[in-house]
Amino acid sequence: MTEWHDLTGHVALVTGGNSGIGKGMARGLHRAGAAVAIWGTNVDRNNATVAELAAEGSAPVAAFGVDVSDEAAVADGMARTLERFGRIDSCFANAGVGGRPAPIDAMSTEEWRRVMAVNLDGQFFTVRAVAGQMKAQGSGSIVFTSSVSMSEGLAFSVHYAAAKAAVAAMARSLAVELARNGIRVNAVVPGWTKAAMTEELLESEAALTKILPRVPLRRWGTPADFEALAVWLAGPGSGYFTGQTLVLDGGYTVF
Ligand code: NAI
Repeated sequence: MTEWHDLTGHVALVTGGNSGIGKGMARGLHRAGAAVAIWGTNVDRNNATVAELAAEGSAPVAAFGVDVSDEAAVADGMARTLERFGRIDSCFANAGVGGRPAPIDAMSTEEWRRVMAVNLDGQFFTVRAVAGQMKAQGSGSIVFTSSVSMSEGLAFSVHYAAAKAAVAAMARSLAVELARNGIRVNAVVPGWTKAAMTEELLESEAALTKILPRVPLRRWGTPADFEALAVWLAGPGSGYFTGQTLVLDGGYTVF
């Protein structure tokens, strides 16, 4: 049987890997033996995550200050990552920001563009930059982070939901386009998960009384829930798996 959970010699890139879901993915990949490159904008959190992971395992780990909404910064970050690690076997395009809720007739163009710049352009810039490298390698696994808002109605958050639906569509299109290059492309679709982005919201009375009762497993997701999924998607165990959206939500969307 394929040792799907052994990623020794594998190089993984996780954007937004210094916090929340991305940090869970980075930790799982590193524990499985992968060398891990983290992209994030917060230098303190970048350094803290590198120190945490380095204390847990011997595979290399490094963080790079990259704002994924900045095209030039992404190109530069990719060059620095390749200089350090030489290749990229899996790329988790995960960095994202929460939308500030607003009714549609009061949604400012500025707020719309702020969310699109990170959650859509940022994922596009990242994957565009990594695709050339993976084509040259003849292999790779790309994973977008979408959201259950791609399919559920998320009132007052059209910008966030639209960006998340768009990355799932990108995953499907790229799965077809890049299969000939040995590259698989999927999207992870988290439900309500404890992270910096949702910290306050998930402790609110409304969330505890209205949302949590709709989660059949009766708890919020945690970054640790994404560890094994990241390892499986990065490695050979998912070798025939592409173009899919994997919902990880404690059953929220089926209840
Ligand atoms: P988080 O706030 O803990 O993590 C977001 C990460 O993205 C951080 O590392 C942050 O520094 C990074 N980031 C933000 N803007 C960036 C930029 N311009 N350039 C580079 N990095 C940037 O929140 P969480 O929840 O872990 O978010 C991760 C992904 O999961 C996001 O794409 C989010 O939309 C998605 N998601 C989260 C859900 C939740 O309930 N927490 C549910 C569904 C999707």
